[in-house]
Amino acid sequence: MQTALGPSAIKAYDPLLELESRPFLRRILADASGYQDHIRRYAGSLTLLVVYGHQVKSNDDAFLKLAEECVSLLSNRIASGGGIWPVDIFPALKHLPTWFPGAGFKRNAIVWKKKMEEFVDKPFEFVLDEMRRGTAKASFVSMLMDSDPKSKDTAADAQHDFDVRWTANSMYSASIDTTITVISHFILAMVQHPEVLARAQAEIDAVVGSNRLPSSDDREDLPYCNAIFTECLRWGVPVPLNLPHRLMEDDIYDGMYLPKGSLVFGNIWAILRDEKLYPDPDAFKPERFLDAAVDEIAERRRDPRTYVFGFGRRRCPGGNLVESSAWLLMVSMIATLDIGKAVDEKGREIEPEVVFDNAVFRNPNHFKCSVRPRSEQALKVVMQEDLS
Ligand code: HEM
Repeated sequence: MQTALGPSAIKAYDPLLELESRPFLRRILADASGYQDHIRRYAGSLTLLVVYGHQVKSNDDAFLKLAEECVSLLSNRIASGGGIWPVDIFPALKHLPTWFPGAGFKRNAIVWKKKMEEFVDKPFEFVLDEMRRGTAKASFVSMLMDSDPKSKDTAADAQHDFDVRWTANSMYSASIDTTITVISHFILAMVQHPEVLARAQAEIDAVVGSNRLPSSDDREDLPYCNAIFTECLRWGVPVPLNLPHRLMEDDIYDGMYLPKGSLVFGNIWAILRDEKLYPDPDAFKPERFLDAAVDEIAERRRDPRTYVFGFGRRRCPGGNLVESSAWLLMVSMIATLDIGKAVDEKGREIEPEVVFDNAVFRNPNHFKCSVRPRSEQALKVVMQEDLS
């Protein structure tokens, strides 16, 4: 994964990221209330492009539909209780006969397994077909299947095939809800803090001007926008309790004995709401990241990236991608859109209602907002055809 998603590989995806930004801006301008669907479509298309080299052309795209069905299965059914099922804790339950009362999990598993395998196999086979025809676009799968030193050992080949197939799929599943969570928090922050949006727009106007969308080359010159992105990661805490890790050996933490096999949850939420690191932690305050910390260690300690992507060997491999893609989407929105409170039929502003009810991702439920082009010129830039 590091080969295809490391910092140097990500730069190669920049044109792909830019390709998806304008269609997103057009969709959200046409229908602000569907912002969650637009982010899902953006993240889904982008991931299909980066992972499988498949370009989504319409909402009816077969891979996109299959993927959305499976991601919804994963987050609303399979992992809805924090990803822990009684059978994970008491493995003997797996011997219950399928018809037995209380063995509904086995009956569901048969149906869900078939669907998930389809989701794993179909886009992967698509890339292999494209590679055989010589028409495959550069992607995570084509890169790794190409780099496979065709060994004479068929068992090693089969293992490589299996690894790439399932890793590619896990990337898809892992990228959707997390991206929706970060971008939804960005929109929410802009609705609640118009002064932050205005300051960010002034920064973009000064650095980028109004004739084009920002690009990754502008990043260094946009410190306030960068601080907004960092604060969205901290304030949003997309995966507040991380994913469960299982101890491979006995351990002692802070005087507590933790036996091998224990499930451990890293409380990312508590770290990112620590008043010592982030004074007034519930407030959305990008400026807390504007001044450099006293030294490198302090910088790393207060950088939310140290925590939001998890810990150790299972740490999220998608951090670099999301750092580029979500950042680019965010600054493209700042450059071209006015985001604010929705108004009712009497012209009164509606306060966004913020409700969280997903057990794994801290994704705010749909809230009302308004999205308009910032200016005629901004609309022109959004409607321009991409040349790529
Ligand atoms: C803001 C966006 C994202 C956040 C906050 C995030 C966060 C996380 C976290 C907390 C984990 C669990 C790490 C652990 O167990 O310690 C994880 C795992 C993972 N993420 Fe992400 N992620 C994001 C985006 C992405 C994207 C865009 C991709 C793929 C392109 C991705 C791919 C993965 C994969 C494959 C895993 C499983 C790694 C493993 O178990 O070995 N993530 N992510």
